Amino acid sequence: MTAHPHLSHASASACAKIILCGEHAVVYGRPAIALPLPHLRTYAQMRARHGRFEIRATDINHVVYMPERAPTQQERPHPLALIAYLTCRRLRVRPPQALLTIRSDIPVSSNLGSGAAVSVAVARCLAAYFQQALSPDAASELAFVVERQHHGTPSGIDNTVVAHEQAVRFVKGEPPRLLREVAASDLPIVIGDSGESTPTRVPVGAVRAAWQVEPARLEALFDAISQQVGAAHAALSARDLPALGAAMNANHALLCRLDVSSVMLDRLCDSARAAGALGAKMSGGGRGGNMLALARDAAHAIEVGDALRAAGARRVFIAPESSPPGRDGG
Ligand code: MEV
Repeated sequence: MTAHPHLSHASASACAKIILCGEHAVVYGRPAIALPLPHLRTYAQMRARHGRFEIRATDINHVVYMPERAPTQQERPHPLALIAYLTCRRLRVRPPQALLTIRSDIPVSSNLGSGAAVSVAVARCLAAYFQQALSPDAASELAFVVERQHHGTPSGIDNTVVAHEQAVRFVKGEPPRLLREVAASDLPIVIGDSGESTPTRVPVGAVRAAWQVEPARLEALFDAISQQVGAAHAALSARDLPALGAAMNANHALLCRLDVSSVMLDRLCDSARAAGALGAKMSGGGRGGNMLALARDAAHAIEVGDALRAAGARRVFIAPESSPPGRDGG
């Protein structure tokens, strides 16, 4: 059999994300808005060499090999092995004799979309290696299969915003609406890491359990969250930062009633507001991970970041400058 044409080296990357408004309710069919963080990324690099296709995640010291046949659900294949398998199948290529290395600046289990970013970076890198096009929709679909296998009942918002690298208004099962006029770098957003890392499936599972016991109460909360998403969208379109901040505050209060915040996330939100932030909320799955604060402008974002550090944030990212210096994208 002839080998598929390929390059000797390839590289690619994918960005982190934040949920601006609407997490959890989006799993139950309500809309949500997510933004990419283009300066906080996962990088994949690939080079041809003899031997089995090996994937190394250098940050977590993990090595996996791609399965030769379709893995079953029960086998729960490693996410890296699964995305590599799915991508090769989509590209109609046999597993390459190559080494693929992943390095990420996105903290793991912190609600910044690290899982989706790893999947999208690997899929893009394989496509680049085989000199094939991979559309954002195709990359998103592949990553969604991995999300489903490892996160229970994901809505699909993470893989969508990461693969398109565009702000998105997302409703499960509908084509995403890309908000091309909105960029996180236009918004003075400050991200505070609570230092608590919780896999998304934990709070998502807790909300599911509560919804099974009290469906009417939970549905009413989802509807109230949906209203705040509408308010946030209108505020974004009108570039009305105080109105956006108010929607974020109201969304956080509703997420507290869903019991997905944490003492530390609440403390960070309070400290941001005390420093004059227009709004603050937890972002993503919750029970740890990251929160967002909306500052008045770039100078004020630095003050809010200082307040978050003083309140105990492990790391602070200011959206337009969230990359450590000296790293280039693929
Ligand atoms: C995770 O970024 C957002 C959640 O709504 C889960 C999901 O939509 O899959 C918590």
